[in-house]
Amino acid sequence: MSETSAELVERAARVIPGGVNSGRRRTTPPLVVQNARGAYLEDADGQQLVDYYGGAGTAVLGHADPFVTESVASASARGLHAGVGVSLPEIELAEQLTEVIPSADQVLLCNSGSEATAYAVRLARAVTNRPFIVRMEGSYHGWHDAVIPFSPGVVPHVNGLTLTCTYNNLAVLDELFRRYPDRIAGVILEPLVHNCGPTVMPDDGYLKAVRALCDDFGALLIFDEVVTGVRHHLGGVQALWGIHPHLTTMGKALGNGFPIGVVAGPSHLMQQWNTHDDGKAVFAGTFNGNGAAVAAALAVLDRLRDGQAHAHMFRLGEAMRTGLQEVADRAGVQAHATGFGSAFTLWFGPRPRCHLDVRKGDHQLFARYRRTLRTLGHFEKADVDGGRSVISASHTERDIAATLEAAGPALRAALDAGRGES
Ligand SMILES: Cc1ncc(COP(=O)(O)O)c(C=O)c1O
Repeated sequence: MSETSAELVERAARVIPGGVNSGRRRTTPPLVVQNARGAYLEDADGQQLVDYYGGAGTAVLGHADPFVTESVASASARGLHAGVGVSLPEIELAEQLTEVIPSADQVLLCNSGSEATAYAVRLARAVTNRPFIVRMEGSYHGWHDAVIPFSPGVVPHVNGLTLTCTYNNLAVLDELFRRYPDRIAGVILEPLVHNCGPTVMPDDGYLKAVRALCDDFGALLIFDEVVTGVRHHLGGVQALWGIHPHLTTMGKALGNGFPIGVVAGPSHLMQQWNTHDDGKAVFAGTFNGNGAAVAAALAVLDRLRDGQAHAHMFRLGEAMRTGLQEVADRAGVQAHATGFGSAFTLWFGPRPRCHLDVRKGDHQLFARYRRTLRTLGHFEKADVDGGRSVISASHTERDIAATLEAAGPALRAALDAGRGES
């Protein structure tokens, strides 16, 4: 690292604990971003990187998309935040979201994915009058107590209200429902898991069976589509696969870099919020429906509506997965190019069906491979936690080809370094 980055890292660490503003932003070696445009990052040393982290999956159109920036700039000129009542752009965004999300008659806006999942959990508890929430090990739904029960600072009686289950394992979920038949308010899951390194796809029939169990036991199924929503389809994977949850959360790609979260569902549930005369569950937030985020989201929906950008990203995603699998096969290493649509992860281990399989992967090789790739100008976060990579509408076939060309030498170097260590 040059003086410039090293100095900034040191300055950051003096005044920001660990030098980063989220535990999920830690990466080794540290990264100081100077600017992010289209498919590229530039670090403080001037190194250009083809970026596959995409602002933690937010930059579906690419960084600093001019259409989004222009939409936000013109909204800014009109004033971004009266903070009372509603505005025409908020109405238009809600109309468009309810049009594209199959399970939603109504939506509410907040500022992040974590807020959205916190609200969804609250609503499930409010309408069922039950305490327990089921989450899947290996998934991530944000930073709040109900979905991160293991964090220090979560008091034991709150921690005890979250039950942890295994993705793709109906027997474990069935057992939980039988043990607590009238205590489980809801099950929250990523319909396909993008948060544990490799992408974990649902087994055939799994999501339908989870919905049926929830219905049988009077619990709500929450699809956390914070990553999958907009990125894989404007209405989330529920629109692609025809499986409908009771409640849906979205965020990330909808704002293309501007902070937004969405809670969506049928009217009879959504009207339980105290935004409605008949509702009592508290939904509040000074910045909900903020004009910048709403203008960005309207621009994103506009840009993606005709399906061309999705087709482009899915094509590049497929090319990347196919190419990476070939690279790994040529290197003679056990690997699976996992992913879906624009998301991909070259995973060194057995094809994962749940977090237990993820533990069996070669996490060291994963980190070494990605760190080496970075030295060659291609950025994939070298941490299994949050290590999903994404392609944006700004990436080109040339970007993918260049990354695939670098992937072979990076993998060979990572394998050699591993042999050196053992
Ligand atoms: C599936 C999922 N849900 C929720 C969240 C939390 O969103 P945010 O970081 O915007 O609070 C994330 C963040 O990575 C996520 O991946």
